[in-house]
Amino acid sequence: MKAQYFGHSCYQVVINGKKILFDPFITPNELAKNIDVNTIEADYILLSHGHFDHVADAEAITKRTGATIVSNFEIATWYEQKGVEKTHPMNTGGSWEFDFGTVKCVNAVHSSVLPDGTYGGAPMGFVITFEEEGLEKNLYYAGDTALHYDMKLIQEEYDHVDYAFLPVGDNFTMGIFDALKAADWVNADVVVPMHYDTFGYIVMDKKDLQEAFEDFTLEIFEIGEQKELN
Ligand code: NI
Ligand code: MN
Repeated sequence: MKAQYFGHSCYQVVINGKKILFDPFITPNELAKNIDVNTIEADYILLSHGHFDHVADAEAITKRTGATIVSNFEIATWYEQKGVEKTHPMNTGGSWEFDFGTVKCVNAVHSSVLPDGTYGGAPMGFVITFEEEGLEKNLYYAGDTALHYDMKLIQEEYDHVDYAFLPVGDNFTMGIFDALKAADWVNADVVVPMHYDTFGYIVMDKKDLQEAFEDFTLEIFEIGEQKELN
């Protein structure tokens, strides 16, 4: 699976030819100043919750690309009211079969409000199940979350997670050691860290991360970097 990092918690993955963009926060991110947001392509934009550092560029990208915004009911409705034509409202516990794979919304322990103060519904994570070269694969994008015991339900349902995108920056979300437990609880193969370094509160030493995750395949991306994840 091809993945590209645009800073903070914003990753793009390509699944069955569809470009799926998570939590775009690019233009306000000083660390992502070399990324031209107008070149980012998307078929779907998945938003984990309403905080500014996850939705900042979603409206501009969807209006330019025609991408469908997939999020909780409150956030999807907020975008509809802004004139976004393609939205797909979901909520925690629900699944939907899209043309690239099946998305299940899973629990995240966090908060959620939209940039203008509108109630942002419940924060979510996503599990995407898809087929690649005849093999069933799955991806867990945790969003912003604390470590929580419902992550064990993911292992119960899916057995393992091929790609786990986990926040590691601490202060607002899990830190490194809770993320390590999360990786263990969901039985992750490849771990991709997110939600670190963007702000002073979440600056992280990559060496600490590498040491902690030595038993996992840890894929740290430079901002703008694209990699093929196995
Ligand atoms: Ni947040
Ligand atoms: Mn955040």
